[in-house]
Amino acid sequence: MNPIEIAPGVYNVGVTDWNIRDFHGYSTDLGTTYNAFLVVDEKIVLIDAVKKEFADQLIENISRIVDPKKIDAVVSNHTEPDHSGSLARVMHRVGEDTPLYCSKMGHKNLPRHFTQKWNYHAVGSGEELKLGRRTLTFMETRMVHWPDSMFTYLKEDGILFASDGFGQHYAGPEKFDDQVGDRIMAHAKKYFANILLPYAPLIEKLIQQVQAAKLDLRMICPDHGIIWRKDPGKIVAAYQTWCRQEPEKKAVIIYDTMWKSTQKMAEAIQSGIMAEGVSAKPLSLRAWHRSEVMTELFDARAVLVGSPTLNNGMFPTVADFLCYMKGLKPKNKIGAAFGSYGWSGEAVKLIEKELEDMKIELAQPGLKVQFVPEKPVLDACHEFGRKIGRAVNGL
Ligand code: FEO
Repeated sequence: MNPIEIAPGVYNVGVTDWNIRDFHGYSTDLGTTYNAFLVVDEKIVLIDAVKKEFADQLIENISRIVDPKKIDAVVSNHTEPDHSGSLARVMHRVGEDTPLYCSKMGHKNLPRHFTQKWNYHAVGSGEELKLGRRTLTFMETRMVHWPDSMFTYLKEDGILFASDGFGQHYAGPEKFDDQVGDRIMAHAKKYFANILLPYAPLIEKLIQQVQAAKLDLRMICPDHGIIWRKDPGKIVAAYQTWCRQEPEKKAVIIYDTMWKSTQKMAEAIQSGIMAEGVSAKPLSLRAWHRSEVMTELFDARAVLVGSPTLNNGMFPTVADFLCYMKGLKPKNKIGAAFGSYGWSGEAVKLIEKELEDMKIELAQPGLKVQFVPEKPVLDACHEFGRKIGRAVNGL
């Protein structure tokens, strides 16, 4: 990606990772970007870096605008290596004594990633860095989504450099919201559901603080994906909605199957739910990536999980998904378990325990069938689905 001037004297010097398909467990089917920003004023500042293997590209992009040695300060909004991995190369090129601004927690975390004795400046919310005509203001955003996370705001231009906030794992020719249109919202929602969801209450408060401070937000620049310049309010409003986790009239039926018995149950349950006028999708964990399932689950009221019993346990794919889901702490859900078995049938109880551990209210006792579900059992699955559908409808 060539550098792009996003406002007079402000450049995106980041890179595009077209080929990444697995971002520590998140399916990035279209790749992603690691955005980094250069602000050229009387002082020249680099905000964020990129993943280690893209260091050369970042330095080349910077060099097309200024000699990296002319950079007066570097800001690290976030320690995670997709934004700091190239810092050693960058600091070596810029100058090891260059002031490196980060949050107080960043000051604790960066030295645990890099042994170099850099010229750290730990900053707190409201502290400023004068660049000449313009000013950077720092805003700590702890646990959105790491303890070290912070935003940096370019006051005179109304530009918020939001680190992982408001991001999307999206790589494409488009670089701005007005170029990509509404389809970017699905990527932003997936990002929220799979990365930021556990911190939804903190994000809600953070947005309230930003609004109370009446920050002029003319542009939001996340470190992943497109930049919000036409309508930054749109993604802020979407975050406010997503933070509330108000479910839609919708169910997801997540399952794996050995010999298609659990699949038949899932499909019969789905028809029962739909018969109550509730949207429902059966999602096979062999076909759906866990991060896609999580996106579907995010705004569903009911979460049904099905697994055959394998060696006295649940299927490994189902255990994988429940582990992933538990960490993301979805709220306002009801749930139920189902599955087929041969001779012991522990999976259903084990799934129920996992759901209860996640504080998901069980709307129905688990449903299990030995070996192959014939018509009476499939009818029972349909009825099980109808009860779930009625529960989603609040009946
Ligand atoms: Fe994009 Fe938390 O790193």
